[in-house]
Amino acid sequence: MTAYIIGTGAYVPEQVVTNTALQEYVDTTDEWIVSRTGIKERRIAAPGESASMLGVEAARNALEDAGVPAQDVTHVLLGTFSPDAYIPATAYALRHHLGVPRGMAMDVSAACSGFLFALETARAILALHPEAIVLVVGSEVISSRLNWKDRSTCVLFGDGAGAVVVTSKPTSGSAEVVDVLLDGDGSLSELLVVRGGGSSAPLKLGEPVGDDFFVQMQGREIFKHAVRSMATITQSLLEKHGLKASDIDLVIPHQANIRIIESLASRLEIPMDKVFVNIEKYGNTSAASIPIALAEARREALIPPGSNVMLTAFGGGLNWAAALLRF
Ligand code: UT7
Repeated sequence: MTAYIIGTGAYVPEQVVTNTALQEYVDTTDEWIVSRTGIKERRIAAPGESASMLGVEAARNALEDAGVPAQDVTHVLLGTFSPDAYIPATAYALRHHLGVPRGMAMDVSAACSGFLFALETARAILALHPEAIVLVVGSEVISSRLNWKDRSTCVLFGDGAGAVVVTSKPTSGSAEVVDVLLDGDGSLSELLVVRGGGSSAPLKLGEPVGDDFFVQMQGREIFKHAVRSMATITQSLLEKHGLKASDIDLVIPHQANIRIIESLASRLEIPMDKVFVNIEKYGNTSAASIPIALAEARREALIPPGSNVMLTAFGGGLNWAAALLRF
């Protein structure tokens, strides 16, 4: 059973927060953020704007692009680490906002790799149910889980959503999902955590929320693992399909840090003009970063028919993933 991406869409909140604006909250500078990360600004959700609300806008755009009415969607998969709530799954809130409350919906918890883990799950669903029309979304309101006093994390992230429609029937301009590889290492889980409120660190009635309620990470360590793991899994996927790096027309990597992206490109020996970058506008939007970038790359006509496109991500887990698309 072959899966095809027949539509892509993205949505980001209206509010733009520049690096200069962040100087009001934390001891940082525009110069430090741009030179160390490549980020110039990010979008931040309005109060009350949740992951399901951003996700449904991206989903509507993807469905319109695919020419598929919302009521035809059979399955909804949502990669997120900033869900609307613990229960119910945010994918159900998204389904409801979409106007098709009935049917399967599920959140996929794989942090920044969430979209690719959900894409592979979509392929599994299609293998069992070839008639399925699967909506795969990555949506994050990370601003709700940032410690705005911690300069080592709060400058890096942004809010947003991206979505794709996946079916077993190709359409003109659709992309074949040739293959997806997923991997991870739970022994590295301490490097990136949001522990507070989980069953290992429960909230107690009346106690104030502590630092562990927010994203905590060891940036330098993650940086090294990110480059190594994305390069390794990308090379494995290329080898599996008898391809060389030069056969790739465009790499769409997770947008976490321009220096990670450049190091990855250098390891893969792929020139930066074949690597899609939009981190300057959005920062790290976690599970949303790849579907937003994919939708933008298509909108900017950067993916002509016949292109081999490599997606690759890494995130808290630690985990990492790669997907090969053929347009
Ligand atoms: O999707 C997965 C999510 N995680 C990531 O992608 C994180 C990957 N890691 C990174 O992107 C980088 O490690 C960071 C951008 C987080 C940090 O860059 P770095 O070059 O590794 O900096 P560093 O942590 O080694 O810190 C260098 C200096 C430190 O000061 P001292 O100790 O040298 O005096 C930090 O305190 O930069 C300081 N610093 C800042 N200065 C101004 C850290 N954050 C900031 C900041 N503004 N926002």
